[in-house]
Amino acid sequence: MHPMLNIAVRAARNAGEIISRSADNVGKLQINRKGINDFATEVDRMAEQEIIKIIKTAFPDHAILAEESGEHKGNDFVWIIDPLDGTTNFLHGFPVYAVSIALQVKGKLELGVVYDPLRDELFTAERGGGAMMNNRRIRVTNQAGLKGALIGTGFPFKSQQHLDAYLGMFRTIHADSAGIRRAGAAALDLAYVAIGRLDGFWEIGLHPWDMAAGILLIKEAGGVATDFAFQDNYMETGNIIAGNPKMHQVMYKAIEPHVTEALTRLKAK
Ligand code: IPD
Ligand code: CA
Ligand code: CA
Repeated sequence: MHPMLNIAVRAARNAGEIISRSADNVGKLQINRKGINDFATEVDRMAEQEIIKIIKTAFPDHAILAEESGEHKGNDFVWIIDPLDGTTNFLHGFPVYAVSIALQVKGKLELGVVYDPLRDELFTAERGGGAMMNNRRIRVTNQAGLKGALIGTGFPFKSQQHLDAYLGMFRTIHADSAGIRRAGAAALDLAYVAIGRLDGFWEIGLHPWDMAAGILLIKEAGGVATDFAFQDNYMETGNIIAGNPKMHQVMYKAIEPHVTEALTRLKAK
């Protein structure tokens, strides 16, 4: 294993422990509202501090982009961190949340870790080295069309201006697929595409820390991810379509008629 991946795994597991320890006491947590339907707790912050401490101790020159504390300047190695993806689920005791850590070097995703502390499932990917779950190789499904497919998504609850476009996409995919799931943690949704529990996924309005690790997992598991213009500006637009190569095509076709100009713009919110 890449020594940097080792560090990321240690950081993700430690953060997972912090999250699990607090899971029984969510009622006592201080909740900070960052925006409409956007919450952070002291658990998000403690988990993030732990991850940053581990990374900074090992690699003091590396840069960091973390959800709660923002940008920490450094060299070309950028760690992209979501300390707790699925905070709303966590606050409600809804058991779907994860830690997401990725390393990007000169704009290229090199490493990705998504850790689900509830199921003790550790998803890891290294560019060119494949994707694994608990050290076993994982792959996307072979599903070829929407018929019979299980598709993941996220609702645009923070970007309501895209609701109509989203509902158009939803209607098309709902009509033809076996089912749509909105589990509430994008990093895990993407990991589930990589391991074949979902055949595809799409969402509007994500942040880089929600997707970075999951996208590498999907690519290393044989899948494809693009934005809504069929480009790889998902981090800049916040919008993503992902699946195995065939499902990605099929989903793109279903989604494309509903894509507005605003949804292909970089930094669309
Ligand atoms: C959220 C989750 C959710 C997605 C939101 C994200 P957070 O992350 O990934 O599934 O729909 O867009 O913001 O805020 O719980 O880290
Ligand atoms: Ca997130
Ligand atoms: Ca988060």
